[in-house]
Amino acid sequence: MTYANYAATSPELSPAVAKELREYVGGTHLNAARNFEGLEAGATALRARRAVAELFGAADPLRVIFTSGATASLNMAIHGLVRRGDHVLATGVEHNATARPLEGLRKSGAIELEWLRCDREGVLEAQTVRKAIKKNTRLLVMSHASNVLGTMLPAAECFLVAREHGVWTVLDAAQTGGVVPIAMGDCCDVLAFTGHKGLGGLAGSGGFALGKEAAAEMRPWMRGGTGSASDSLEGPSFLPDKFEPGTQNTIGALSLAASVEEILREGVEKIRERECALTARFIAGLRTMKKIALCGTGEAERSVALVSVVVRGCDAGEASRRLFEEHGIVTRSGLHCSPLAHKTAGTYPGGTVRFSFGRGTTEGDVDAALEGLAAL
Ligand SMILES: Cc1ncc(COP(=O)(O)O)c(C=O)c1O
Repeated sequence: MTYANYAATSPELSPAVAKELREYVGGTHLNAARNFEGLEAGATALRARRAVAELFGAADPLRVIFTSGATASLNMAIHGLVRRGDHVLATGVEHNATARPLEGLRKSGAIELEWLRCDREGVLEAQTVRKAIKKNTRLLVMSHASNVLGTMLPAAECFLVAREHGVWTVLDAAQTGGVVPIAMGDCCDVLAFTGHKGLGGLAGSGGFALGKEAAAEMRPWMRGGTGSASDSLEGPSFLPDKFEPGTQNTIGALSLAASVEEILREGVEKIRERECALTARFIAGLRTMKKIALCGTGEAERSVALVSVVVRGCDAGEASRRLFEEHGIVTRSGLHCSPLAHKTAGTYPGGTVRFSFGRGTTEGDVDAALEGLAAL
């Protein structure tokens, strides 16, 4: 089998991560902050917070909050930051994890929502952000890279513009976490990440990293027992407890601790370089095929390791099915939970066949994917 669907999920845990998880499963499982013995679970989470903070250049590990993934994190950030009457900006390539909560708020009359125009390749200009900001603009949500087009968006530049105008900034780093160097710096208020893609952790793990001001401003979207400040019906205002009610996913945090530490040892720059080379090889091969229309910028350096194509004369679902059944190549077809990106690219409603590469991908896999496509 040739797996080319890393943008959906990383199918394998590294041997070192798997070993740690096996040891954990064979041991005792206690709840963090609920009893004295549960200290170890809290320590595991802290180890993961430290690794994630280092990876994203976040100043304080206690401002790394764990959730079930990017969807939960984006919902928490959006609902925690917007107020009735706000004007909210998001880009024309957002995933439904962002688009649906925002559209829900718009439909209920709570917010005014504006989609920032990207060109057909998914490119967004910082000027577009500047022009869209109004008096009541409060929030800008942006994908760091489109999960359909692969195109990386100029988040730092756009966030600087937003911050100049006092607009809160939320970055969806689902497609870039662990594979593209990220420095959260001063201008990103909330960085949402997922564990099961580039970070190499378990599905159902992920979270968000918060800037200091956003940590104070953001309301918890979910409340419950934390094992702390239990005399208060409001819940704690300190971190991470403010945003982590209920029993936490300790094995998920452990998977993140082990996998992110591994990424830090290897170096994200090195991972990025390797994935760029694989993507460039794939794009070069695609350019020789007349029946393939390539989406996105067609430049590996401006993209994550993800390429969407349209096979002329062949439905995307049918092409993906044949790639798997006839050649053992795993891709993803359709709209990839982002109808907005397809409308931007002009591939709506037919969708595309998406090839995406990751830590287990070899040059041989890329060539096999190209051969499968050529044979369609
Ligand atoms: C850009 C983007 N945002 C959000 C998500 C949702 O992530 P999660 O699976 O962690 O909820 C995905 C997953 O496909 C994604 O690609």
